[in-house]
Amino acid sequence: MCVKLETARLKLRPPELKDMQAVLPLIGDYDVAKNLANAPHPYEAQHWVDFIARTTESRARGTGFAFMIVRKSDCVPMGMCGVRLNDGMFELGYWLGKPYWGEGFATEAARRVCAFALFELKCDRLSAAWFADNPASGRVLEKLGFVATGTDLRESKARGVAVECRTMRLDRENYGRRKVAA
Ligand SMILES: CC(C)(COP(=O)(O)OP(=O)(O)OC[C@H]1O[C@@H](n2cnc3c(N)ncnc32)[C@H](O)[C@@H]1OP(=O)(O)O)[C@@H](O)C(=O)NCCC(=O)NCCS
Repeated sequence: MCVKLETARLKLRPPELKDMQAVLPLIGDYDVAKNLANAPHPYEAQHWVDFIARTTESRARGTGFAFMIVRKSDCVPMGMCGVRLNDGMFELGYWLGKPYWGEGFATEAARRVCAFALFELKCDRLSAAWFADNPASGRVLEKLGFVATGTDLRESKARGVAVECRTMRLDRENYGRRKVAA
């Protein structure tokens, strides 16, 4: 399933090998990688090649849907957002390159990807997790209507240690309930 999604300011499309040049400097930033579970640091070209192979396979199997977040105004790839199966539930994940933080792009992209998972993939609920020292991500999830479910310890590949994280959940009926700015 080759899905392309759209929001007011963004195009969301499957990531491609040719995105490497734009993506490497963004995800290569430790401040981005340290807040993700699976991003290696330093991030090499081969990591992107392997990621594209994995993500293409998961999309074909229906176990994961990753999207490049592309700004409509100038077609710049700014980051990624997606869902993938984890313990039988689709888990939301996202990251943006540092130059693009603070403009509501993560919330706008993630809101559309949540709608895709809840209403097009017909998931009853979604999970998400954020490292306790990354409150901006917790805020994104809160704006989307996610509620806290607990705490956990998860490995951060870039940090090389397990980090305390907060787990959250969004039930389909709660999508769009929170009246907050995007
Ligand atoms: C976390 C991240 C995705 C946020 O992207 P973004 O586009 O800046 O997010 P948004 O602008 O949509 O929303 C960020 C919210 O967090 C708030 N915020 C920012 N820094 C914060 C902080 N230190 N403490 C609390 N809230 C904070 C912002 O004010 C905003 O909330 P508001 O709209 O109520 O003002 C981005 O910083 C990022 O990619 N970081 C590295 C990777 C990462 O953390 N991915 C998530 C893994 S779970």
